[in-house]
Amino acid sequence: MATSPTATESRGAAADAPPEAEGPLFPELVGAAPPSPAGPIEAAELATLATVPTVPLPKVAQTLRFSMRQIEFVFKGRRELGEVFRMRGVIPGGPVITSHPDHVRSLFTAKPEQAPSLTGESPLRPILGPNSVLTAVGPRHMRQRKLLLPPFHGEAIAQYTAMIADAAEREIDRWPVGEPLALAPRMQAITLDVIMAGIFGVEGRPAPGTPEAALRTAVRKTVAASTWPTSQLTELLHVGREEAMGPLKFGLAMLDRPLYAVIRQRRRATDLDARRDILSILLQARTEEGEALDDKELRDELLTLVLAGHETTANSLAWAWERLVRNPEPHAALVEAVRRDEDAEERVEATIVETMRSRPVIPIIGRRVQVPWRLGDHGVEPGTAIAMSILLVHHREDVYPDPFAFRPERFLGRKPGTYEWIPFGGGIRRCLGAALAMAEQRVVLTAMARRLDLLPDRPAPERAMHRNVTMIPARGARVVIAAKHD
Ligand code: HEM
Repeated sequence: MATSPTATESRGAAADAPPEAEGPLFPELVGAAPPSPAGPIEAAELATLATVPTVPLPKVAQTLRFSMRQIEFVFKGRRELGEVFRMRGVIPGGPVITSHPDHVRSLFTAKPEQAPSLTGESPLRPILGPNSVLTAVGPRHMRQRKLLLPPFHGEAIAQYTAMIADAAEREIDRWPVGEPLALAPRMQAITLDVIMAGIFGVEGRPAPGTPEAALRTAVRKTVAASTWPTSQLTELLHVGREEAMGPLKFGLAMLDRPLYAVIRQRRRATDLDARRDILSILLQARTEEGEALDDKELRDELLTLVLAGHETTANSLAWAWERLVRNPEPHAALVEAVRRDEDAEERVEATIVETMRSRPVIPIIGRRVQVPWRLGDHGVEPGTAIAMSILLVHHREDVYPDPFAFRPERFLGRKPGTYEWIPFGGGIRRCLGAALAMAEQRVVLTAMARRLDLLPDRPAPERAMHRNVTMIPARGARVVIAAKHD
């Protein structure tokens, strides 16, 4: 039975983790941040607080460094200016960057009208359009979110497990032994099949010649093209814009054609009420005034779900293996737990949680405060964009001692903290696909640990590359399969 949207909203970031058993096995591996007051304040209080220090570089230099080398930029900012600092970039009115869990809590639990999401201003907006659950703000966002929560709820997702396992086994069967293999595109093939099945109700890979098959090809081409340097430039030029231009406009047309064809074909279906896929649910949805979604609104929503719903998960899985093959102890512990079936679920969960801590695929998210806001000793004016650096929160020495080490044991017998572990964001904008992403990672990680003996192709860790709003392994998480088991 599906839980009501309200109950689902209140579950918090740790909701997908297993219940705490006998307490943490390694209590020293997770700590706490000292308290720091944060939240909306009166103008009079704002006047008494310190102003936020700014990165002392010209605006253009900051913008370029942030988009090319976000990791170095934010760590340097925190080291030299403190926990709260301001950068000048393409986003107007800030952003001020913070990494304190109490500040995060103040933004996640704020009234939506006091701290709306920045996604409507992000480089995603010209791609996804203004109508999707990700880019809309205010009442429109809440309406879309309510509509989409039930099909993405944990129990609805449970029915996908067998399908995810099939997609994973089919992929693993195809992989070559003894030669370098980039895992990210392979993971993407699995997660794209899964999301297409959930959204369009396609079983397995869509049949050749159908609009769904054309859409799948177009999505794969678009994602592959987005690593080109020209795409990064295009992306920069689009920050703060509402409409796509130039090559991006052309690329979108390639996606839109098959997507509108799928919508038109499905509108003609006579069995909509018997179908459980998301497109059919959206086609039957009505607003309080009884209006249906038009084609453009459907297009924005579907494209959001396809794009948000597969690349992130694929790269999180790719990072898991990039880390595991370079960390022999946790790697061996995972393989042993899975193959012997001893505490396997807990080990798999801890491995995923630690991967998402140390390599969050979305490294930064933001809100724009509409009233004066306190962030520890500092105050910011209404209209300021506040970015929560997920990367910095996850690398606090006080919360995660030895933060750069990959230690899944941190999370054995311990749930991750709602405001300390935030790879899926939080509050009313928390990732809608979190339960699906966790289910996919559990199934695929387990299947790979059971069947494959993996080695790194090179000893050096892979660098992080920033693509659109994501942070992905620069060489696609290359490994060599030393042996494959049935
Ligand atoms: C490992 C995989 C994933 C990661 C790391 C991830 C991360 C995130 C983050 C950080 C946010 C923004 C939250 C905020 O601003 O507070 C978000 C939002 C969202 N994600 Fe995911 N995501 C993943 C997988 C998925 C999947 C599988 C879907 C499936 C459809 C999905 C759909 C969405 C949607 C629709 C939103 C917007 C929610 C809203 O604004 O109300 N994501 N995700």
